[in-house]
This record gives sequence, structure tokens and C-alpha cells, in this order.
Amino acid sequence: MRDVVIGKAASFPNPGRRVVEVDGTEVGVFCRNGKFTAFENVCPHMGGPVCQGKIIARVQELIAPDKTSLGFAFSKDQTNVVCPWHGYEFDIATGQHQGNPRLRLRPVKIEVVAGDLVVTLPAGMRERIARARPPRGAAEAAKPAARDGDGE
Ligand code: FES
Repeated sequence: MRDVVIGKAASFPNPGRRVVEVDGTEVGVFCRNGKFTAFENVCPHMGGPVCQGKIIARVQELIAPDKTSLGFAFSKDQTNVVCPWHGYEFDIATGQHQGNPRLRLRPVKIEVVAGDLVVTLPAGMRERIARARPPRGAAEAAKPAARDGDGE
């Protein structure tokens, strides 16, 4: 694990989000109501750059006492980031997926130290990201070569 200063807490937008590159890894940093959270920029679905997605209020269905729907409304308390690859939504306060309790973003420790924002990079983060999101062209190179004359 390694502590890295990523900037001044006072200069961070509130509410706001930044994706910072540190040692070849990407960390998504979020601020809401002055509280900071940070996550590895890797979606648990298929490795997409989840922290770079749209930020929206959670959409909640309002249910009447007789269990009928009263429609939908934006939450005033919960904010989600939407993965740009397939649209999975995660709570930026907890990293929890909205519909699947087994899916969550991997948290990165973040704290304010003497006015600086400090993230603690977890061990193995770079390797985990590389496995989840192979470099461009790697997927093509892994495909079997096309063969001529095999009747297809
Ligand atoms: S990779 Fe994020 S939703 Fe699929």
C-alpha cells in the first residue's frame, strides 16, 4: 500500500468528481456534502471505466400503502454513478450496486491530511486493473487466427 497526495481538499468541487491517474492506475474520487469517497476505476461487471460515467440522483419508485405505484422520483439523499459501458449504477457514497447486493465498487481509502487529499493505493491494484481491462488490441491478438481453406 502506498499513500499519494492527489491535491488540496479545498480545491475539489463539492459536489464533484475527478478521476486521477496514479502510478498507472485510475482512482475515481467523489465529493458530496463535503464527504470524500474513492474507488478503483474498474466496473465489477466487465471492467469498464465506471467512475467516468454520468452522475445522477437515484431513481426511486414511490409505493402507496395499498402497494400501488405512485410513480418515480429522484432521491434527495443518494447519488449514483452510471458505468458508461452497460449502465450499471453504483452509489457514490458506498460503491454498492443498486440491484445486486453482491456487486460493489472496490473502495480506495481517502482522507484529508493537513488540507491535502491523500489516497492509499491498495496492494495489487495495478495488476487487478490490468486483468480487468486488457490493453487495446490484446483482445484481438488473443483471437485464433483465421484459416484459409477449411471449408467455412
Ligand atoms: S462494464 Fe460496467 S456495466 Fe458493464
